Amino acid sequence: NYYAILMAGGIGSRFWPVSTTELPKQFHDMLGTGETLIQKTFKRLSHIIPEENICILTHERYKDLVLEQLPRANPGQILLEPAMRNTAPCILYASMKIQKENPDAVILVAPSDHWIEDEETFAEDVKRCFTACLEKDILMTLGITPAFPNTGYGYIEYDKASGTENDGICQVVKFTEKPDYERAKEFLKQGNYLWNAGIFIWSAKSILRAFENLQPDMYRLFLKGKSKYNTLAERTFIRKNYAKAENISIDYAILETSDNIHVLPAGFDWNDLGTWGSLYEKLPKDDAGNAVVNARTLIENAGNNMIRTSGKKLVVIDGLDDYIVIEKKKVLLIYPKQKEQNIKEVLQKVKQKF
Ligand code: GDD
Ligand code: MG
Repeated sequence: NYYAILMAGGIGSRFWPVSTTELPKQFHDMLGTGETLIQKTFKRLSHIIPEENICILTHERYKDLVLEQLPRANPGQILLEPAMRNTAPCILYASMKIQKENPDAVILVAPSDHWIEDEETFAEDVKRCFTACLEKDILMTLGITPAFPNTGYGYIEYDKASGTENDGICQVVKFTEKPDYERAKEFLKQGNYLWNAGIFIWSAKSILRAFENLQPDMYRLFLKGKSKYNTLAERTFIRKNYAKAENISIDYAILETSDNIHVLPAGFDWNDLGTWGSLYEKLPKDDAGNAVVNARTLIENAGNNMIRTSGKKLVVIDGLDDYIVIEKKKVLLIYPKQKEQNIKEVLQKVKQKF
């Protein structure tokens, strides 16, 4: 009864200029290990879930990339979105399909681009959640102890005590997606908050009920096609209707408004590799704290920089601290690490201007 929805349709715009619409970050070997992020994730999930039950959700344009990078997946496992509508519509679509195939399915929803090294603990935690979701009508997320007021994450206010008689699974008081800096600081001070890892576990039944109650329009839209799912008519229906769905993430669409969320504080180390700064944390560094990928360097009086080039360029730096220095084809980005969340907006400006 175990299934997975592997989300691989984002464009990782905070990793511009390396991650682009043509080749988003999940299809890159960001860590220099010889495997792309989606390959690592598929492998991690296949230890817990039968390979043929892993659905890969992505935009049509990445179909060939997925087939090439995951040769063990068959084309029927790759669900193609004709438009980018963020994570809520793709999760709803896949969940309905899965439920039609197996009404008792429990589903792990996972991003394709995270770093998790301790695969054993990850598998144990997921199995605990699967067990809980088979027994109870709850929506589960994995929580991470927050380290600093990151404004790019969802924050989970939780009732620690409720976990003691529940196999560690705690009730969520409130879910807040991407708070501003002041609020994030406040959450950290209070101590009863976790970061949302963006990894969810629920039964097909529970998540569909939540969509029906909280996103009735979207629910009806995808329900119209249900008789066609897993048949030849499915593609035509999705091509025609998918773009009508609201562009909204699962966090805003369901987690913030549901009163049925539970969290398991994760036992494993996690990094979402969401920005250059978080990638920097996972890379080896020189004595001054510079992380260098694919470049030759002469660095003096400079520390804590994230440096990467596309062709082993020689990079000479003096007097620069805490910067991102990234060269890719026609772009050279020199940007303060502190403002890395803004790279998304910078990319928009660049697109308008050039
Ligand atoms: N198939 C598909 N289609 N996948 C998508 C789409 C889409 O339209 N949009 C995003 N994704 C994929 C991304 O590739 C990524 O693997 C995952 O869904 C999450 O999307 P992000 O865009 O990376 O979300 P986020 O980082 O802003 O926020 C989420 O993750 C944080 C932890 O990393 C939220 O769940 C936060 O609450 C959470 O803290
Ligand atoms: Mg992310």
